[in-house]
Amino acid sequence: MYLGEDSFFMSEFLGNYLKDKDKKIKILDLGSGRGIQAETCINLGFKDITASDIGEEEINYLKNKFKNIKIIKSDLFSNIQEKFDLIIFNPPYLPESRYDSRRDTTGGKFGDEIIFRFLEQAGNHLNENGEIILLLSSFTPRNKIKKLKWKIKKLDEKSLFFEKLEICQLKK
Ligand SMILES: C[S@@+](CC[C@H](N)C(=O)[O-])C[C@H]1O[C@@H](n2cnc3c(N)ncnc32)[C@H](O)[C@@H]1O
Repeated sequence: MYLGEDSFFMSEFLGNYLKDKDKKIKILDLGSGRGIQAETCINLGFKDITASDIGEEEINYLKNKFKNIKIIKSDLFSNIQEKFDLIIFNPPYLPESRYDSRRDTTGGKFGDEIIFRFLEQAGNHLNENGEIILLLSSFTPRNKIKKLKWKIKKLDEKSLFFEKLEICQLKK
């Protein structure tokens, strides 16, 4: 189950970014994995948190770890009907190759397919004035994503040895 440098970058960012936000907002941690982002939200005092993932192993892990948040097994929004004020997604974004086709790291042939599908659907799951916090990599092709007409603002970035990670806010 996944935990990488991007997980810690996102978690640290959220720790600062969310600390002064209204603790009553409704949060979805999508592709939650081991729940590091949901845990950051819990530690900050947020109560209305849903964690979801496509993987059986991840869902069992999350159910074991968290007793006070909602856990949903879902391929993106397939089993999620609700709307949220904040959707957090640290997506799988690497292009598939013969060396790596893992569900937690690769986002399709070019790396942007899961993110694209996510952004096609996410608008229906955001409350008015809601926002998405999404991690993007310098490996992620942006052309298709930009065509979806989200307002994208870079909030933070981090250079790693071989790639640059960006944390972006997306609004309708
Ligand atoms: C890069 S990991 C991030 C995990 C965790 N949020 C973190 O920050 O460490 C991506 C996660 O997305 C999940 N995932 C992949 N495809 C998905 C899909 N179609 N719907 C929901 N979750 C998905 C994977 O199982 C994995 O847990």
